[in-house]
Amino acid sequence: MDAVEAVASPNIALAKYWGKRDVELNLPVTGSLSVTLEGLETRARVALRHRPEDRVCFAGTPAPPVEARRISRFLQLFRELRGEPVGLDVDLASNFPVAAGLASSASTFAALGIAAAEVLGLSLSDRELSILARRGSGSAARSVFGGWVEWHAGAAADGTDSFAEPIAPSDWWDLSILVAVTDPAPKAVGSTDGMRRSEASPYFAAWRDSHAADLEELRAALQARDLPRLGATMEHNCLKMHALALSVQPPLLYWRPATVAVMQRVLTLRGEGREAWFTIDAGPQVKVLCPSSQAEAVAAALAEVSGVKTILRSRPGAGPRRSEARA
Ligand code: PMV
Repeated sequence: MDAVEAVASPNIALAKYWGKRDVELNLPVTGSLSVTLEGLETRARVALRHRPEDRVCFAGTPAPPVEARRISRFLQLFRELRGEPVGLDVDLASNFPVAAGLASSASTFAALGIAAAEVLGLSLSDRELSILARRGSGSAARSVFGGWVEWHAGAAADGTDSFAEPIAPSDWWDLSILVAVTDPAPKAVGSTDGMRRSEASPYFAAWRDSHAADLEELRAALQARDLPRLGATMEHNCLKMHALALSVQPPLLYWRPATVAVMQRVLTLRGEGREAWFTIDAGPQVKVLCPSSQAEAVAAALAEVSGVKTILRSRPGAGPRRSEARA
């Protein structure tokens, strides 16, 4: 096949990956658990080139050199498996704000890995794709799947046991995920840097050591479809991650005033009887989980919070799609 197109969605972590035991291989200190976001998508189109170097574009425009190099380094892993120095033509496009705490790297490296493997004629299992996607961006290991996904930290030094797998399908639970966008600009501190700095937090050992209990609680809440239990653990895990970031020098503060205002509104919504819980990744946007039957009311309340630019509506989404594209 000369050209392949793959589409993958980002995911949000309920128990977060925050800390690496190996930076080169993107091996996490802890496991993590996420849900795939429907409707938010990155499309990767990959074609074989008749020259050795890659060409990388973002929606038709040549990518900045730093990003093009990161993508070429990732593609190198696939070329090595094929054993041939073939160049690739890559075009990537996302339908949501990139690099703003909406996990665009997760959907990008998942879609790119799937399309590259196929165009290079590698027949890889989903587990192998998850391990490779992880090398592009840790959270991409989870975006190789749809629905509810767990990424195992693993213990092996070579990362062969650090892969994600689905734990419940996208239609397991009729929930909605609302994304309150407070600042769509690219974030100032990327996740690799944020993690490296957070590992110096005086609270890092407590984060690492309390994580397994959060994962177990989330798995049990998911199996029981117990939203208060799931939501409470998700919020707790998110605030612990941000407590690490806040407790380093210089501090790492991902929030805007509107980020805090949305969190506070979620708390008052619960006081008003709504079932809504928040989580925040390494950026200023707030993701809110609620039953789909309450999504309209919760979205309307969040849209009124001062500083909220827009509300994206999503739900647990399916896994990646791939198709043959015109070369
Ligand atoms: O995959 P990365 O390197 O972009 O890191 C993701 C970090 C968080 O989004 C904050 C947490 C997570 O598990 O997705």
